Amino acid sequence: MASVSLLAALLFASSFQNIETTTTFPVTPTTLVSETSAVTTTVTTTASTVTPSTPALTTPSPEFINLPDVLEVTESTRPRKVIIEFQITSGNPDPKVQIISITPDDPVLEDPIINPTNVSGVFNVQIVLNGSLDYETANLLTVRLGIATPSGFVEQTFSLSVTDTNEPPQCEAQFQLGAVVQVPEDSPAPVRLYTVLAKEPDSNDTITARITGQFS
Ligand SMILES: *[C@@H]1O[C@H](CO)[C@@H](O)[C@H](O)[C@H]1NC(C)=O
Ligand SMILES: *[C@@H]1O[C@H](CO)[C@@H](O)[C@H](O)[C@H]1NC(C)=O
Ligand SMILES: *[C@@H]1O[C@H](CO)[C@@H](O)[C@H](O)[C@H]1NC(C)=O
Repeated sequence: MASVSLLAALLFASSFQNIETTTTFPVTPTTLVSETSAVTTTVTTTASTVTPSTPALTTPSPEFINLPDVLEVTESTRPRKVIIEFQITSGNPDPKVQIISITPDDPVLEDPIINPTNVSGVFNVQIVLNGSLDYETANLLTVRLGIATPSGFVEQTFSLSVTDTNEPPQCEAQFQLGAVVQVPEDSPAPVRLYTVLAKEPDSNDTITARITGQFS
């Protein structure tokens, strides 16, 4: 009775293509200027046609300027990274931007960060990722945002589309290093020598296994 040692290493490969998408948001403060002048014209016309009374000085409601309808984010995006940046207008100096809801309910975004820009009445908003995204758990999230100021409240929705990335297959820890298998010398072939458990995190991806090494 002799024993045979098998030193085997298993290599896994997966066939998925990695797709990275970056979205940028152009700043268009010119929109604000034209809207403001349109409002001013209307007020002047009304005031001169009716009576010489004092025209009501109303602050316009806040507005979203360039919030996209769909934002694509790869699932490998790191926590605390800014995933979206856009501008809003507000006649009030301290607008509040809040996430009203995320559907399905998942606290993946932190509270928006608002900063004034060098254009009066235009504010910059950034939203940071809170934790990680997982395509396999939720690949499309609907985010409702609201701007609240003393002169009005507006809301707008965008879709957060999570792009899949190829996650490496995982081998159960006890199988990751070479193993020694004892085989009686006259075992009839075929004989099962060793079983490895491996997991593929991506749905519909395939795992291939290879044996490299020598028998002695
Ligand atoms: C960020 O994630 C943590 C852990 O899931 C959660 O407790 C927290 O409320 C989240 N923050 C926001 C602003 O949703
Ligand atoms: C406002 O800031 C932008 C960049 O943030 C810069 O390109 C532009 O020159 C600035 N405008 C003024 C008037 O300072
Ligand atoms: C996996 O494949 C099945 C059958 O081809 C398909 O119905 C399903 O949508 C696929 N899932 C993903 C996440 O691509």
